[in-house]
Amino acid sequence: MKVLLLGSGGREHALAWKIAQSSILDDLFIAPGNAGTKKHGKNIDLSPTDFDGIRTFVLEQQIDMVIVGPEEPLVKGIYDFFQADEQLKKVGVIGPSQFGAQLEGSKDFAKAFMSRHAIPTAKYGTFTADTISQGLAFLEGMKGPYVLKADGLAAGKGVLILTDLQEAKAELKSMLLDEKFGAASSKVVIEQFLDGIELSVFVLTDGESFKLLPEAKDYKRIGEGDTGLNTGGMGAISPVPFADASFMDKVHNRIIVPTIKGLKSENITYKGFVFFGLINVKGDPFVIEYNCRMGDPETEVVIPRLKSDILDLFEGVASNTLSERDIQFIDKSAATVMMVSGGYPGDYEKGKSIFGLNSIVDSIVFHAGTSADGPSVLTAGGRVLAVTSYGKNLDAALEKSYDSISKINYDGAYYRKDIGQDVL
Ligand code: AMP
Ligand code: GLY
Repeated sequence: MKVLLLGSGGREHALAWKIAQSSILDDLFIAPGNAGTKKHGKNIDLSPTDFDGIRTFVLEQQIDMVIVGPEEPLVKGIYDFFQADEQLKKVGVIGPSQFGAQLEGSKDFAKAFMSRHAIPTAKYGTFTADTISQGLAFLEGMKGPYVLKADGLAAGKGVLILTDLQEAKAELKSMLLDEKFGAASSKVVIEQFLDGIELSVFVLTDGESFKLLPEAKDYKRIGEGDTGLNTGGMGAISPVPFADASFMDKVHNRIIVPTIKGLKSENITYKGFVFFGLINVKGDPFVIEYNCRMGDPETEVVIPRLKSDILDLFEGVASNTLSERDIQFIDKSAATVMMVSGGYPGDYEKGKSIFGLNSIVDSIVFHAGTSADGPSVLTAGGRVLAVTSYGKNLDAALEKSYDSISKINYDGAYYRKDIGQDVL
C-alpha cells in the first residue's frame, strides 16, 4: 500500500513510526512532515490544506490511502474533496466528512448533537451578536466559574474560564461584538462549569463499528502543578489510573456507543478517529469536547501501546470492514514528556541546534517541531520533542523519559518535571 500522511507534529511522527512497521506498507510519504518523520518515509513539501497540490501528488504517485493528522483539512472538507473527484474517489481517506468534522469545528454543533443523543455534557446556551442580551442574561442566571467557548476553530485558544461575572460579560461582548477570535467567535457557547479530572478517550470507526484505543491523560498548562498558560500539551500518560473498568463501562455505554449510533442514525459519514475529551465528575464521565482526529501529545503514548498493524485497521475503516479486524495492545505503560522552546507558549526562537538525539536508547523521541539541516536537527516550533518511554508501570516509564531528556539539549529547552504526578 502507498500511503500519504498529512501533518508535521509529534502526532504525525508517532503515526509515521507505526505505519512504517506495517507489513502491508510499500511507500510512506508525509506532507510536510519534520526531521523525525523523515526516518520512516519521504517528506513532501506540501501543506495539508493545499487540496489541489495533494490531488496532483496522489494521482502522480498512485497513493492508495491518505491519513489526515490535524483537524484543519478535515474541517475544510478534504474527505468530501476526494469523494467528489472521479479519480480520487477510490483512495481511502482516514478522517470524517466535512459535516462530521463539525463535532470539532463547531462547539454548537457538538452540543446540539450530544443533546439529541442524550450524551452527558455540561448544560449550555448558544448566542450570537443578535442574541447578546439573552447571552448576558444567561450569564446572570448562572453560578460561576463561567465557561465561554468560541464556536469555531481558534487554534486551541477559544475557551475562556472566568470567575467574575462582570469579566465574563465583558468577554462575551468582546467575542461576539469585537470578533475577539475572528469569525470563530461569531457564535459563542456558554457552559456550566464542570469540576473534575480530565482524560482523553479515542476510538477508530468506519461509521458502523468502532475499536477503542488506550485512554490517555494530557497536561495542558505550561507550568508545574497545572499552572500558567494553556499549551498544545506538555506531556501525556497511558493508561490513566482512575479510568478503571467501571468508569470505562460508563464511558462506553453513555458516551461512545450513543455517539457512534448517533452519527449513523443521522447519516453522517465518519471514517476516522473520534477523540472524546472527557471529565470525571465524582465517578461519572461528561464530554468536554469532541475532536475529529487523534490528540497530540496523546498519540505519542496511545500509538506506542497498539500492538496490531495500524494499516490493517485503516484498511478496515476504508472498506467498512473494521469489525472483522483484530486489535491488540501492548501490556505496558507509556509516558511522554514534551520538550519545548524557551518562551513557549508566548514568543520563542527557532533554529536552535539539538544535541544528544543519537545517544537515546531507552526512549522513542518523537519530533514535534524540528527541521533537518543536513545531518543536524534544529528546533522549528514551540513544542519540539516528545520523549516517550515504556515501563512496567507509569513511574518506570516516566523515569526513563526524564533520564533520556537529561541527555538531550538545545538552547532554551524547557519541560515540566511533574508529568503524571497528580494521578500517581
Ligand atoms: P476545550 O477547547 O473545549 O477542550 O476546552 C479547553 C479546556 O477548558 C478543557 O480542556 C478544560 O480544561 C476546560 N473546560 C472546557 N469546558 C469546560 C467546562 N464545561 N467545565 C470545566 N472546564 C472546562
Ligand atoms: N491534547 C489535546 C489535543 O490534541 O487537542
